Amino acid sequence: MKIIIINGPNLNLLGKREPGIYGSLTFDAYFDQLKKKYPDIELEYFQSNIEGEIIDKIHEVGFTCDGIVLNAAAYTHTSVGIGDAIKSIETPVVEVHISNVYQREEFRHNSYISPNASGIIVGFGLKGYELALLSFQK
Ligand code: DQA
Repeated sequence: MKIIIINGPNLNLLGKREPGIYGSLTFDAYFDQLKKKYPDIELEYFQSNIEGEIIDKIHEVGFTCDGIVLNAAAYTHTSVGIGDAIKSIETPVVEVHISNVYQREEFRHNSYISPNASGIIVGFGLKGYELALLSFQK
């Protein structure tokens, strides 16, 4: 099974960025743990702060991968382009947010990803990525 985790803007700063909300572990350290825990899953990781690069990556993997775990971060709330990219591909997408966006500012309550995601995992910290992985297992 081949799964890719795609993280959007500012998530390269996990570990340093607002640790009260996002925790103090870097994503690289967390990703290493995931790879060790699930050696049978072919896991890839991609992060970009650039909307078009995220769309290009979704196009690139969206017909071959078994699953996409997507935290589009701030683009979740603004990007019609990423929403349309998800509509355009065959691979199922699980939307993840580290924080519970529904307990936060109103603008974080809208998602252009959710209507086309196969599922949504919100508010469980980094563990949400693992829950998303497990959701792809048959
Ligand atoms: C986030 C929530 C978004 O509102 C925010 O812009 C992020 C991270 C989360 O994982 O909780 O950058 O997607």
